[in-house]
Amino acid sequence: MAVPEKVLTNDDLAAIVETTDEWIVTRTGIRERRIASERETTATLGLKAAQRALEIADMLPADLDMVIVATSTPENIFPSAASLIQAWLGANKAGAFDLSAACSGFVYAVNMAAQAIRSGSIKTAVVIGAETMSRILDWQDRGTCILFGDGAGAVVLRASGTPGGVLSAVLRSDGTGGDLLGIPTVGSLDMHVPDTLPNGHKLHKMHMNGSEVFKFATRVIAESVHQALEMANLSVRDVKLIVPHQANTRIIQAAARALKLDESLFMLNLDKYGNTSSASIPIALCEAVQQGKVQDGDHLVFVGFGGGLTWASMVVQWGAPEQEERQRFNRQRRQLSYVGAYWRGRLARLSRQVAEAIARIRPERGRMSRLRRRLDSYDIE
Ligand code: COA
Repeated sequence: MAVPEKVLTNDDLAAIVETTDEWIVTRTGIRERRIASERETTATLGLKAAQRALEIADMLPADLDMVIVATSTPENIFPSAASLIQAWLGANKAGAFDLSAACSGFVYAVNMAAQAIRSGSIKTAVVIGAETMSRILDWQDRGTCILFGDGAGAVVLRASGTPGGVLSAVLRSDGTGGDLLGIPTVGSLDMHVPDTLPNGHKLHKMHMNGSEVFKFATRVIAESVHQALEMANLSVRDVKLIVPHQANTRIIQAAARALKLDESLFMLNLDKYGNTSSASIPIALCEAVQQGKVQDGDHLVFVGFGGGLTWASMVVQWGAPEQEERQRFNRQRRQLSYVGAYWRGRLARLSRQVAEAIARIRPERGRMSRLRRRLDSYDIE
């Protein structure tokens, strides 16, 4: 995982909008969140998380077949954040794409990667959830700006002979709720939209109908977790840990009640990071692993829900593949790959600029010599 250093507390927020630490903590469970610096972007945070995941998996970027970034806040429509990260890693044999399924995106992306590995079309993938939500928040809307934060998390998936990994996945969407949560931005429909749309939503700023999203979330978590467990022939008793999308403690408490499970079975760290959208599950998973809550062979459930509307549940059997001997020079080779990727990128851009400059001069020279021949034919100096 990778989160920005800058912390924004509830008290800091109370200086910006009419709210209090007490209101935010009791209604959401959030105490603080991280905010990207000017230099940080979705792809730079995603890159850091991916590099750390490669470090733990002791893999070289050149061995990656696929880079997938689940995000709602990419730098551009294209090039994708995934392509930027692929280049910065020096993952020269990998395909790369962004996946848009809002806060469910990470679960969707892990399933895409796992199925590609199962089918045999690829062997390894890095799946990243990365967001800079602070860039698309309406900092005058206290109903949304208090909820979200920035960050990234990543996992490496690898083909293995050991049974386990992704055991089942339920991916769902209900686009009829598309108006409940969104970020209207310049799309292919209209290039000449005013800053404020006829329905009152601001261009490039998130809007949300909080209470409707709350009801939707509590309903789909319990429903889809049951479905995913059934598909994996498991029951809730087999589950060691549920890693839910970190939106709101009350949503998770309601889901625990609906599933008749103890709240302690749910990994929670939203008090520190707020809702980091597609990054929240991998960040929570990372901290669960760090805290020793996840052991080899454990059954975990990931459950995401959010804009679209979309939701997704997944049952995973955790396990690192057979620990082959760590390659002695892998760490140095990874560093070399990052440095090499940086210079390759700079060189590629520089050589294009030189080629363009030469192309600009050449026709000039062609025109000048034609003019000179013409003048010569008139015998004029
Ligand atoms: N500080 C203080 N008061 C606030 C506030 C804030 N930050 N935000 C809203 N309020 C006020 C409202 O204006 C309202 O006042 P009113 O009764 O005078 O009109 C009152 O608090 C209750 O608002 P309401 O929206 O009903 O609160 P709520 O209990 O539903 O909590 C959310 C609001 C946003 C915390 C809650 O709806 C929620 O978490 N929804 C799910 C959002 C989510 O997780 N989205 C992401 C999904 S991926």
